[in-house]
Formats: sequence, C-alpha cells, structure tokens
Amino acid sequence: MSDPNQLQQRITDLLGPQGCLVAADQRQPYEKGARYGDGRSLCIARPANVEEAAELMRLCASEKIRIVAQGANTGLVGASSPDRSGLDVVLSMERIKGVIDIDPVDRVVQAYAGTRLSDLNQALRQHELCFPIDLAADPSLGGMLAANTGGARLIRYGDVRHNVLGLEALLIDPPGQRLDLTNRLRKNNTGPDWKQNFIGSGGAYGIITQAVLQVHPLPQQCATALVVPASLQAAALLLRDAERNFSDFLSAFEGISHNAMQSVLQHIPAIQAPFEPLPPYAFLIELSSARPRSADFDLEKIFGAWLEACFGDLILDAVIDKPDVLWRMRHAITDSVRQEGKVIAFDIAVPRSRLGAFRDEAIALLEQRYPGVRVFDFGHWGDGGLHFNLVLPQQLADDFPPQRVHALRQEIYDLAVHKYHGSFSAEHGVGPFNQQFYERYTVAESQALAARMQTVFDPAQLLGVTRFGPAP
Ligand code: LAC
Ligand code: ZN
Repeated sequence: MSDPNQLQQRITDLLGPQGCLVAADQRQPYEKGARYGDGRSLCIARPANVEEAAELMRLCASEKIRIVAQGANTGLVGASSPDRSGLDVVLSMERIKGVIDIDPVDRVVQAYAGTRLSDLNQALRQHELCFPIDLAADPSLGGMLAANTGGARLIRYGDVRHNVLGLEALLIDPPGQRLDLTNRLRKNNTGPDWKQNFIGSGGAYGIITQAVLQVHPLPQQCATALVVPASLQAAALLLRDAERNFSDFLSAFEGISHNAMQSVLQHIPAIQAPFEPLPPYAFLIELSSARPRSADFDLEKIFGAWLEACFGDLILDAVIDKPDVLWRMRHAITDSVRQEGKVIAFDIAVPRSRLGAFRDEAIALLEQRYPGVRVFDFGHWGDGGLHFNLVLPQQLADDFPPQRVHALRQEIYDLAVHKYHGSFSAEHGVGPFNQQFYERYTVAESQALAARMQTVFDPAQLLGVTRFGPAP
C-alpha cells in the first residue's frame, strides 16, 4: 500500500475535492455508526456516479485498500463503519441517487442506491404508489437492500427481500465490474437468483448501485388503534382474530411495553398519555386499504365494531387515534429509551405464538441473574420480532463490566435461539457487531458455504467489514 497522503491525493484527483473528504471533522459523521461501529478511515470517498465508484474500486484494489460501502449510515450492526486502522476507505453512496424510472402499470420503480426512502416515497406518491417498508430512520435504498431491513409493516408487505425484483452491483473481482441484474419481471425462473447474494449480506459480496423494486398501491384510508390486551397470552389470540377478520387489511401489529410507553411520554412531552394509568402492554394495530373511504367501506367503523366485540375476553381498553399520533409514539421509542441510561439492545425473533412465553422467561432470567436491569421492550409482535431492549441504571454501571454484559446478552440469545428456535438478529443483519453471535448460532455447514462464497466474490478480503466465518 502506498503512503496514505498520496492515496488521499490520488482519490481526490479521481473524484474531485467534493468527492473525497479528508479532514477529521468531515470524516467523523461517516465513521461513527448509528448504534455500533466507531472507527477511523483513510478518507470518505463520495463518487458522483457509478463509473466513478467503479474507478475508485479499481484504485483501491490495486493498492489493496479495503472499501466499506455506506448508504445513509442508519444501520444498527456496524456493517458500514470503518475499523480503527485509519486505512479503510468509506465509499459513501450519497451522491449516486435519484429515481431512474417509475412504471405505474408494472408497479415497478428503478432507482440509484443512494436514494433515500423518503425521497423514493415522495416520487411514488404522485402515482398513488408507495414502497411500504416502514422504519423509524430514513435509510438509503442500497443500505436497505444490503441489510434486508424489516420494519413495522412486514406483516403485510414482507421484508425488503420480498420486494426486490432486480439490482445492479459492482464486484471487487474483477475490480469495479458491473453486474447487471436489473430484472423487472415478477416471474423469471431461469437459474440461480444471484441478486439474493447481495441482499442481507451487509456489503460482503459486492456494492449495490441500483435497485429495482416492486411497489404497492398507496393506502387511501387507514384505521389505527392502541389496544390493551387482556394478557400477553390473549395477544396471540387477538392477532389471530385480527388476521381472520381483516386478512389483507391488517398492516401492523406492534407491541409496546409499559416502560417503553412511559419513556416516550417522559422524554417527548408533546405526546400525551394514551391511558391512565399506563397498562403493562399495548398493541398498535393498523388497518389500511388502497380503496378510498366510503359509507359502505369505512375501516374505522369496521375496526371499531371489531374492537367492541373483542372487549372483555381479549381486550381491556383501546384508543382509536390519528395514525400520525400513534406512529409518532412507536417511532420515538428507540431514541427515548436511549435517554434512560446505557442500553443493551436486542433484535430477537421467535415464533410469534411463543413471544409472550419467551418474554416472561427472559424477564425471569434477568430478575434472577441480573437484578436491577430494567426492561423497555417493544417490537414487531405480528411477525415474532422483539426488541428486548434493556437499560442499565447508572448506579449499576460498576456491577456490569463488558464481560458481564456479554454474558447477559449470550444468555438471552441462548434462550431465544436454542429454547425458542428463534433468531439473534431478526431484521438488523449480521455486521461486525453480530459476528460472534453469527459464529455461535449459525449451523457450521451454512457458515462454511457463506465463507467459501465470500472467497469467490472477494478473494483479497477488500469489501466491507462483514465476515461470514473464516476463509476455507
Ligand atoms: C425499530 C428498530 C429499532 O423497530 O428496528 O424501531
Ligand atoms: Zn425493529
């Protein structure tokens, strides 16, 4: 590898001063991840187009410099942060953005990887369409594909993977080679589906430059309620009943614990308490439809009647409110809980029928083995996702050195994965933060295959910070 200053200069010569950030204060926002990942880079490369990105890859490959692709830097597993060596180049895709084409008849959109989800949805709105992956953040499309994000409406629309028809990626071997997989067909069963290698693999196999997405009719009406279940056991029955009654209209079934609600109310005074006193648990249930509201098709009325019928056995209380009021509370949880103290965050999934049992057992485990830790859980109850987020009160900080936090984490994951046949990463992906858990919980044969595949795509280990096991 050449002298770092020379390399910075060559990248600046290639991409222009706008395209290469070298000063520490300019680099910093790209070096620190939204939750994990805090490193130092050689520079932040911001190519203006795909050709420049390919050129940069050729330069980096010839100098054996590692490239860490980054979208909006909203990922939660450290997969887009450089390490601490000061030698990685962060390849920010933020300038390679924009919608290329929207076809309302095919219900397909093609866009560059740096396009933000909010900008995509704004463009789609004119055609009464939407890309309905709902997150508290505003990621870029490339990052969403690389992480295979889930979100709060997965119960209806699936995760990102379910909605990708095609993509374009740049390979590192040979460096900068374009792989055009921009399929627009819904049916195309003509051999291995290579795009799936790039989705949910944290940038390990290539750098996504374009996405072709299947989009959906924009809902014209919705009904939203915050519902207090008779118990967490009743919540499973409530979900089943909601699916039976509303089938396609059910678009969210999100769980929020008492502590998570209280945290939002405390830190965001503009949000009013939905219940007095707050219940142990509540569910944000949403129905939506692309068919406009009319006298004989009014989701709020249909919803209200169902809620009334469920009162007593399944439901103790409910408030129907404007969607933005209730979703604001839901989306504010992560940031509010962060203000409570040191957070130990989880992104667990178990079969949804067993979520209540898992939660009870995990809380009992904490009370017995880690007393004093507070639980602020919430999650995507409709698809078995639970952010079993914990807070260490300040006065316990000395009792919880990193090894003890690690042991706690592992006990919770062991419970979820081994006893409940669950997942240690339901929707946030692998990345350096989850690497050790990937190695602990993923079957050995799958790890070996993923590692072999990584050697095929990236023989010199120049791409990203996600490693799928040791090279064979
Ligand atoms: C959420 C993020 C943390 O569900 O996944 O809010
Ligand atoms: Zn989530």
